[in-house]
Parts: sequence; structure tokens; C-alpha cells
Amino acid sequence: MIGSGYVGTVVSACLAHIGHNVIGVESDNAKLELLRDGRAPFYERNLDQLLEAGRQAGRLGFTSDMALAMDESDLVFICVGTPSRPDGKADMSAMLEVAQAAAPHVKHPHTFINKSTVPIGSGRWLSSVIEDAAGDPRVTKLVRVASNPEFLREGTAVSDYLHPDRVVIGADDPASLDDIVELYQPVLDQSFPGSDQRGPVPLVKTDLMTAEMIKYAANAFLATKISFANEMARFCDLMGADIQTVTAGIGLDQRIGPRFLNAGLGWGGSCFTKDVLAMVTTAAEYGYQARLLEATLAINNDQRHLVVERLLRHLKNLRGARIALLGLSYKPGTDDLRDSPALDIATQVIEYGAFVSAYDPVVKALPAGLPVRIASDAYAAAEGADAVVVATEWPQFIDLDFARLRSAMKGELLFDGRNCLSPTIVGAAGLVYEGVGRRVPGSARRLAIDLRA
Ligand code: UGA
Repeated sequence: MIGSGYVGTVVSACLAHIGHNVIGVESDNAKLELLRDGRAPFYERNLDQLLEAGRQAGRLGFTSDMALAMDESDLVFICVGTPSRPDGKADMSAMLEVAQAAAPHVKHPHTFINKSTVPIGSGRWLSSVIEDAAGDPRVTKLVRVASNPEFLREGTAVSDYLHPDRVVIGADDPASLDDIVELYQPVLDQSFPGSDQRGPVPLVKTDLMTAEMIKYAANAFLATKISFANEMARFCDLMGADIQTVTAGIGLDQRIGPRFLNAGLGWGGSCFTKDVLAMVTTAAEYGYQARLLEATLAINNDQRHLVVERLLRHLKNLRGARIALLGLSYKPGTDDLRDSPALDIATQVIEYGAFVSAYDPVVKALPAGLPVRIASDAYAAAEGADAVVVATEWPQFIDLDFARLRSAMKGELLFDGRNCLSPTIVGAAGLVYEGVGRRVPGSARRLAIDLRA
């Protein structure tokens, strides 16, 4: 397993759990120490237990020695980051680096399995890079390349890996496909120890480029579903309808399904924006304008301005106003701040001259340069606030004592950016509730007047 970042560590631990021998290559010494100790260098539910169990069973080890890892393996997973470059395309430099580092150690047949999200066609590119870097024409015969995209969500990655909706394997030669199917057999038939899921997992066996495309198409569709819900929420706000009931109503149609239709501040995290942007820029490069995906990105971006518009509508002038943010991570269950809507909102209101305080159950520090006061709990964050904004739907916020929150505040506005609170409960505590496309009991008239104004 080359790369012990988020995906690589989860996949290593899970493959060891289902009975394989895994050796992870990691060049960062601090990370290596932790991993060798059976601990993940980041927070992910249930991962430490699997790492420790793999270590104790002698099936999972970590090294910085590429030669040793290549010598002992047949299947080589590549799990490195492919962040966005300034032009929107995926940055392949980490993949280039690891492929060049591994190539000279190819001495027997290896199948390189790419797990990173890479531009379509990267499989073929990877073979050429390895062949060139090996400096030995015989290596061509020893190297095969496959794609096995991941669909892991942060916070539920272990269970997503062990009980997936499907496994996708792409390769242009049947032998690689067979090897990887065999590797996944315990997952495909759910026969590994402790599996609680009945029934086999669907398998998609295809060619390299199609597998790479499936990954992008999955993320693009999920992102589009969220932006669709957000666009419908805008309609609901204009018309006085309720988005929660609308999405429940359409989600019951099995062709649509209820998941990924939560309207709010839109998506954050390291994947959706990066991948959709990469598709848009690649399409443009090939002479096609991906209009649906452009709109998907634009709508998501707009949702982050929506909250600022609402604050301006209520408070008129944000200079010196105190805004409390509840939640900083891009979603609950993680401490990940990458592309988090909360940080964007903080940056925008600070530019308007507001003072920002925040509370998050797990995030206790912010990037340098963002002047946000981190409070010890939600009530301390709300102290003296003119408005409170719920930016992440941590379950803890649903059970807040809203009367206590109200008495800590100076103002009365609570903007529920994730539509996770009950307008009735919040309103009963003397707060003015605002959500995204939600009908608030008793407020239809006020909203209509606001819109006319
Ligand atoms: C996402 C995909 O769900 C994974 O399948 C994929 O493997 C991963 O990207 C990746 O490409 O690495 P992740 O970013 O961990 O996983 O998180 P999600 O649970 O998908 O949530 C993404 C964002 O969408 C969050 O900010 C969440 O708050 C937001 N979201 C989600 C909504 O705004 N509305 C929804 O209905 C659902």
C-alpha cells in the first residue's frame, strides 16, 4: 500500500481484517511511528481497533523501505492525494513521485491498483511512467495496471469499505481482474469474520477508463443531487413551501431515493469540489462545456453566500456584530476542515467587520490568520452574539438548551444552515429561526413581507 493517508490507512487496515497480508509504505517518520504502534494519524471511527488487530495478528506492517515492500508484494495499491491545481485539474505529482520510486524495484510481476481519483486515462499514463522510470524494457512485461476506485466517506470509511454498495474493478487484462476479484472475495460474499451483512455485494468488472470514469461520475452525481436540493430550497423560500417535506415527498419515489437531498450550506470536504472541477476543466480541454456540472458548482458556492445575505437582511450592518458559529468541520463525525463552509462563512462575515466566535465538538484550532475565538461549548460561543449560525449538523446541537442559548445571546436570530433543528422548539425558546427553504410555523406572512421588501 503506497501512501498511508486517509484512504491508504483505511484500506490497509480493512484488507488485513479480511485476511490479507498488507505492508504499508510511508515516508513521513511521525506517521510511521503511529501506524507501527497500531494508531491512525487522523481520527476515523473504528480504525484504531482494526490497525491494532492487524498488527497483533502479524498481517499488517508499515515501512519506509520501498524496496522491501515491493519485494514482498504482488498487488500494489497506490493511494496518494490528487488535490486540485490552481487551473482546476488534478495534481498528479504525488502519483508520479511514488510510481517513479516503486519502478526500479519491480523484479517480479506486479499489478498496480490505483485507488486515487485520477483523470480518465491515468492508468495508461501510470504504466508508461513505471516503464520509463524502471529503465529496463523487460519491466513492461512485469507491470499491469488496474483501477479500483474508492467510495469511502469520512466518518464511516471502515464500514463503507467492508460493506460497500458495490466494488468496482477496472483493468484491460483479464488476469489483473481475476487477481483483484480474488482479493475482494471476502467482501464480495461478506464471508470475513464479524460480517453482519447478508447477501453478496454487487461487482462491476470493466476496463480501466470506465472504472476511472465511474468514480468521477459517482461524485458528480452526488454533488449534483445536493445542488438540486439546494436549488429546490431556493424555490421553497420564494414560494413559501417547505423543502424538508418536498425532499421527503420526492425521495419516496424509488427512482429518486431519499439520500443526499439535504438542503443547507452545501457540500464541503476534499472530494466533491475537486472532482467536479476536474471534470469541468477536462471537458473544456476536450472542447465540451459541462454545463450541468458548472451549475452544480455555482449553486454550491452560492449556498455559502446565502447565510451572509440572511445575516445582512436581519442585522443590516455587520460591522462590530458578533456572530457565533456552531460547527466548523465540513460534516459531523470528522475534524476535517478542508473546504468547510463554516470557514468560508467566517471569512466572509469577518470581511464585513463582524467578530466571530465558534464551537465545534472536535475542532479545537483553526488555520492561522482567521481571527475566530474558539469557545469551550455552544453557550460560551453564543455569549453576546447577535446571531448564531449552525454550520455543521453535529447531533449534539439538536439537543441544545435553546432557552439557555437565547439568554446567552444579545440578539435572537438562529440560522440553521443544515436544516437540522426543529423550528418549533427553537421558536418556543424565544429565538427567531431561519433555515434553508423551510417553512417556519406562523412565519409565512412575515417571510412574504420580507421578500417584498
Ligand atoms: C464523498 C463521497 O460520499 C464518497 O463516496 C467518496 O468516496 C468521497 O467523497 C471521495 O471521493 O473521497 P465525503 O466527502 O467523505 O465522501 O463526505 P459525504 O458524506 O459525501 O459529504 C460531503 C459533503 O456533502 C458534506 O459537507 C455534507 O455535509 C454535504 N451533504 C451531504 C449535503 O450538504 N447534503 C446532503 O444531502 C449530503
